[in-house]
Amino acid sequence: MKILVTGGTGFTGKALVKRLLDDGHQVVAMDYKEGLKTEELRQWGAEVIIGSVTEPDVLRRAMQGAEVVHHLAAAFRELHVPNSYYYHVNVEGTRKALEEALRQGVRKFIYCSTCGVHGNVDNPPAGEDAPINAADYYQQTKYLAEPIVKEYQGKGLKTCILRPAAIYGPGDPERFFMIYKRVASGTFPMFGSGKTLYHPLYIDSLVDAFLLAQEEGKGEGEAYLIADEKFVSIEELVRKVAQSMGVRVNIPHYPVWPLIIAGHVFEKVCKPLRVAPPIFPRRVDWYRQNRAFKIQKAKRDLGYNPQVDLDEGLRRTAAWYRAEGYLK
Ligand SMILES: NC(=O)c1ccc[n+]([C@@H]2O[C@H](COP(=O)([O-])OP(=O)(O)OC[C@H]3O[C@@H](n4cnc5c(N)ncnc54)[C@H](OP(=O)(O)O)[C@@H]3O)[C@@H](O)[C@H]2O)c1
Repeated sequence: MKILVTGGTGFTGKALVKRLLDDGHQVVAMDYKEGLKTEELRQWGAEVIIGSVTEPDVLRRAMQGAEVVHHLAAAFRELHVPNSYYYHVNVEGTRKALEEALRQGVRKFIYCSTCGVHGNVDNPPAGEDAPINAADYYQQTKYLAEPIVKEYQGKGLKTCILRPAAIYGPGDPERFFMIYKRVASGTFPMFGSGKTLYHPLYIDSLVDAFLLAQEEGKGEGEAYLIADEKFVSIEELVRKVAQSMGVRVNIPHYPVWPLIIAGHVFEKVCKPLRVAPPIFPRRVDWYRQNRAFKIQKAKRDLGYNPQVDLDEGLRRTAAWYRAEGYLK
């Protein structure tokens, strides 16, 4: 099949492109910046199209002959942009991609949303019908695109929405690496009780879910939470990261409220100065927001069955960080 992956050079996009190529598909990866990763993707055999998902001409070229579209491109944590930029990329970009997919007769459109649309989970674990309670602008715009996806399902385009939990694994130089880096220092300051729930998702399991969702007759017009089999507390996660690295870690506890205030103050002060804040509200949410989900619906309808447990996933991730020189 010819398959388009938007955001194809991102952490998840790259892993999906690789698997699709390994499975023998013809893959077009679309992203809006040329760079080392785009070269790597070309070497693997993907066609790379540079441009934004907000540009109809680029979408037209990228979707030509595509049977399936995996829409992963998203504004995530952008510096120096107004909030409207998130709306422009995550909502309007998704609408434009759907419109082009409908026009070109794409067989199936998979929209990558986020578990973050549920915000703090009051009654963990949450299912897909749990309240929508997006906590920040990124999450809100990811959710605002969901009803648009359903609108196009109504117009005759087959769609499926995935809401991934916290993605980690080899290939991620940013998100989980911050946890590994702090653990490697020997001390991980824990703000709050450490009992906040966290639901990881190993990258290969998410790629499995995309492959299942693209199948004919599966999950059409539906949304699915995708996560590992088990969730953990954030303190347990930190201990397991240390275990995966074969090191000991001290976890001193501090109250969380000064960090909440600092997050807001730093964001307010740094934004006009156009510098990256050292702490910002979303990072503080990591210590506060319960994230634990049910994956029964994806298991039942898609046949989703995560194969890599947290200990094994963290071991593989630690090995990748070492091999790539991120960790000693
Ligand atoms: N990471 C998580 O834990 C998590 C959890 C739930 C859901 N998700 C969702 O999963 C998807 C992939 O996330 P990820 O963590 O792999 O993020 P990522 O590495 O940031 O990938 C997103 C990609 O989209 C590209 N992009 C941004 N704006 C674009 C535009 N206007 N046109 C074309 N491409 C654009 C980015 O390019 P640049 O890098 O050049 O900006 C990046 O390559 C996203 O839809 C995200 O919302 C992520």
